[in-house]
Amino acid sequence: MPAVCPSLMSADPLRFGEQVPALLDAGACVFHVDVMDGRFVPNLMMGTEITRGIAGLVRERGGRVDVHLMVERPGDAIGWFAPHADMISVHVEADPHPHQLLGQIRAAGCLAGIAINPGTPLEVVMPLAERLDYVNCMGVNPGFSGQSFIPGTLARLRALRDMLPTTVALQVDGGIGPANAADARACGADLLVSASAIFGAPDPVAAYADLVERVAAA
Ligand code: DX5
Ligand code: ZN
Repeated sequence: MPAVCPSLMSADPLRFGEQVPALLDAGACVFHVDVMDGRFVPNLMMGTEITRGIAGLVRERGGRVDVHLMVERPGDAIGWFAPHADMISVHVEADPHPHQLLGQIRAAGCLAGIAINPGTPLEVVMPLAERLDYVNCMGVNPGFSGQSFIPGTLARLRALRDMLPTTVALQVDGGIGPANAADARACGADLLVSASAIFGAPDPVAAYADLVERVAAA
């Protein structure tokens, strides 16, 4: 079952307690938390305590928390976030030992994901396949929400889907909205992350529901 995953990067931090339950009521089950260190990406956000708070809201209703670590050498951060996460992705560009990190994520009890920037060759995922639960294929260069989707991402999703075992889920993150959600799904994306298209809309629940409908029809 494909899922639209609200990315809390664009939510109003003073209204998490209202916006997260409203999206859970609307059927959202995977919430994406972006962690940035100001080094791997030029932005800083989302620490362990806010993630703990979000996890409380999400998990009491059976939802899952997906932590996307955009940090250099994320080894230590895996341990910090794992208690508040069900899925964790690390960037293949951020550490020389991604294979080891994926094992560390699973050992911490989370599903393990590898994230790849738009300029990274797709083949890097193949030697990691045995330790992978999902691949996060970036649709933008990470760091900020609200950027335009890079059109070549669709071909990258298709190629990844062909390349990867069916046991590995495909996530797309960045620039996903009403104009391209169905295309991304048709190209093989199972988990469609969206921040600004949901939280930048006047009614985030309606915007979420609209994306779900487009993905289901794809
Ligand atoms: C970007 C983050 C994304 C971001 C997506 O660096 O990894 O998860 O929240 O934002 P939108 O959907 O607005 O492109
Ligand atoms: Zn993300």
